[in-house]
Amino acid sequence: MSSTDEMVSRHFKITDVSRSAPLVHTCAPLARTRTRAPLARPSTRPTRTRVRPATLPALLLAFLLTACANGVGVHGTPGGPGLRDPYFPKAGNGGYDVAHYDLTLAYTPGGSRTLTGTATVTARATHALSAFDLDLKGMDVEDVTVDGRPARWNRAGQELTVRPHDDLDRGATFRTTVRYSGTPETLTDPDGSEEGWLPTADGVLALGEPVGSMTWFPGNHHPSDKASYDLTITVPKGLQAVSNGELRSEQTNGARTTYTWHTAEPMASYVATVAVGHYDIRRSTTPDGLPVYVAVDPTEAKASRTVLARIPEIMTWAQRRFGPYPFASTGAIVDRPDDAGYALETQNRPVFPGTPDVGTLVHELVHQWYGDSVTPKSWRDMWLNEGFATYAEWMWDEDHGGDTAQQTFDALYDHGEDDHPDLWSFPPANPSGPGHISDAPVYQRGAMVLHKIRQTVGDPAFRTLIRGWATTHRHGNADTADFTTYVEHHAPGKNLTPVWTTWLHGNGKPATP
Ligand code: TRP
Ligand code: ZN
Repeated sequence: MSSTDEMVSRHFKITDVSRSAPLVHTCAPLARTRTRAPLARPSTRPTRTRVRPATLPALLLAFLLTACANGVGVHGTPGGPGLRDPYFPKAGNGGYDVAHYDLTLAYTPGGSRTLTGTATVTARATHALSAFDLDLKGMDVEDVTVDGRPARWNRAGQELTVRPHDDLDRGATFRTTVRYSGTPETLTDPDGSEEGWLPTADGVLALGEPVGSMTWFPGNHHPSDKASYDLTITVPKGLQAVSNGELRSEQTNGARTTYTWHTAEPMASYVATVAVGHYDIRRSTTPDGLPVYVAVDPTEAKASRTVLARIPEIMTWAQRRFGPYPFASTGAIVDRPDDAGYALETQNRPVFPGTPDVGTLVHELVHQWYGDSVTPKSWRDMWLNEGFATYAEWMWDEDHGGDTAQQTFDALYDHGEDDHPDLWSFPPANPSGPGHISDAPVYQRGAMVLHKIRQTVGDPAFRTLIRGWATTHRHGNADTADFTTYVEHHAPGKNLTPVWTTWLHGNGKPATP
C-alpha cells in the first residue's frame, strides 16, 4: 500500500448518518424568542421619551452636553448578527472582539444530560454599541448582565441579542455574563456529519468545527475572533474532564469533582473542546520540556499506547520543519463519540475517534501550527488548514523512508480520481459550498498547491517559506490572499502565477502535473 493509498479516506469525515439521531427539538429556548425579552430595568433610552415639541431643542442640547461631559456613547448601533462568512453568514457577530471566555460549567452525563453554565465574555467594542449578539444554539438562557448590570436580551435562532443597560462606547472593554442551562444539541453539518455536544458511552465530547461550539457556550463563534479561555467544569466524582490548555486544578468536594483548565494563547472556538468520561490519563514531557497530557478512553488505551508514545518524536520533527510550537502544552484525546467518526485539531490536544494511525496523528498535531495558531479568516480559506496538514503527512512519509512528496503528488495527479472521485471538482481556494469544505480538493489538492510552490521555489526556500508563514501569522488569522502575497514577497524572481491560476484557483484537473 503506497502512502497515497493509505490516505484514501483517512481524513474524510466519516459521516455515518444511519446512526445519527434526529435533531432534538427543544421548545423551551425557542419559545423565549417569541416572548418579549425580560426587561430587567426600565429603559432609559432618551429617544423613547415623549416630550412637547417646544422643549425638544432644549432637552436635546442638555442631553448632548451631559452625554459628552460623561463620555457616554449615545450613538450606539447594533453590532449585527453575523460576520458575512461566505459559507456560514450567521456565524460570529459584528461590533466587538472577544478577549477572554470564562466558562463555568457543570455536567452530569446520562439521564437528563443537563449542562449548567455561566459564561463571562470579556470583549472590546469595535464601534459604539446599543446591542450586540452572541451565538448560542439551543439551551435556556436564565439571565444576562453586562458589566454587572442586568441587560435585556432576546433570542432568534442562534442569535442571542443583548441590549446593555447603557450603550457601549467604541473601544470600551465590557463583560457579558450569561447564565444558561439545558441539554446541548448535536448539530448536523451541511456535509451530513455530526458536531456539537456528542454523547459517548460514559460522558460527552464537544467538537466544534465549523459551528458546533455554539451548542455549549455563547460566544463569537467564528474563526476570525480568537480569545483566551478559562474553563471550569464540575462532573460527578469518578469522571474526568479534559479540555484545552493546561490543567490548573482538580478538586473533589463530596460527590463532585471540579477541573479547571486554562488556555492563555488565542483560541478559535471551533477548536475548543471538553471531554467528560473515564480516561486513562498519562502526563509526560517532551525532550524540550513541553508538557504532554494524553487522555484515552479505557477501551482504546492498549491499542493507542504505541502510537501516542510517538507524540514527542512528532513534536520534535514538526518543530524542525515548521518552527517553534505555538502553545504551552500538547497531547491527545482518544474517545468514542456515538455519532462522529472524524479527528479534529482541538487546540493543544487533538481528538481522535478511536486509536489513530501515525499519519492522522501527524496531521492533527501539525494543524496546531496551521489552523490553530494561523487560523483562517473565513471558512472559505479551509485549504490553508487542510492543505498544510495533509502536506505535512507527505513530508513525514518522505522524512521517514516512505514515498517522497513528489511520488505522492504524482500518484494523485495520475490516478487520484480512483480514491477521490471529486478531486478536481472545484479549486482549493473556492469550495463549492459549505458542505464541501472537508472534501478532497481542500485536502489533497490543497497539498498539491504546496507541492507546486515547492517545485517552483526549490527545497530550501520552501522550507523557509512554510516556517515563516507560521511565524509571521502566529496566533493570528490569515486568508488565501495573505498567503499568496506572502509567498510572492518571499520568493523574489519566481513566477508563481501559474501555481495560483491553475492549481489554487483554476477549475478542473490541470493539464500538466
Ligand atoms: N479538521 C478535521 C481534520 O482534518 C476534519 C473536520 C472535522 C472538518 N470537522 C470539519 C473539516 C468541518 C471541515 C469542516 O482533522
Ligand atoms: Zn485536517
